[in-house]
Amino acid sequence: MNFKNLTFILSLVFLIWGCSSSSTDDLTNNPDPDPDPDPDPITYNADIASIISSNCIGCHGNPPTQNAPFSLTTYNEVKTRVNTIISRINNTTNPMPPTGLMPQTNRDLIQQWKDDGLLEN
Ligand code: HEC
Repeated sequence: MNFKNLTFILSLVFLIWGCSSSSTDDLTNNPDPDPDPDPDPITYNADIASIISSNCIGCHGNPPTQNAPFSLTTYNEVKTRVNTIISRINNTTNPMPPTGLMPQTNRDLIQQWKDDGLLEN
C-alpha cells in the first residue's frame, strides 16, 4: 500500500468517525429544558396531611383545643401558615408539637413540600 492510499483511508476513517460520534452539541441542543425533572414532588394529600393529622390535629383540630390558636385540618389552612409551621416545627426551644420535635424526616418533608410549590395533589 502506498502512502497516497494510506492517506485516503485515514481520511475516510476520520470522516466517518467525525460524523458518527456524538458531540457535545447533542447535549447542549437538548430540546427538553429540564432533562431531570423531580419525578415525585411532595403533595399535601400524599405526604403532608398524614403528618399533620398524627402530630397536630390533637390540638389544631376543628375546632382547635388546648389553647391552640387555629385549626390545621384543611389544605388551605396548612398552606397559608406554612412559614410559621416550618419555623415552629424546627424550633428547639419552643417546638410544635409542644411535646418535642418530630423526626427529621417529617420536618424535611414539610420543607420539601414548600420547595416543590405547596402542591395539593
Ligand atoms: C398539645 C397541643 C398542640 C399540638 C399537638 C400542636 N400544637 Fe401548635 N400550638 C399549640 C398551642 C397551645 C399554640 C399557641 C401557643 C404557642 O404558640 O406556643 C400553638 C401554636 C402553633 C403555631 C403558631 C405559632 C406562632 O408563632 O404563631 C403553629 C404554626 C403551630 N402551633 C403549629 C403546629 C403544628 C404544625 C403542629 C404539629 C406538627 C402542632 N402545632 C401541634 C398547641 C399544639
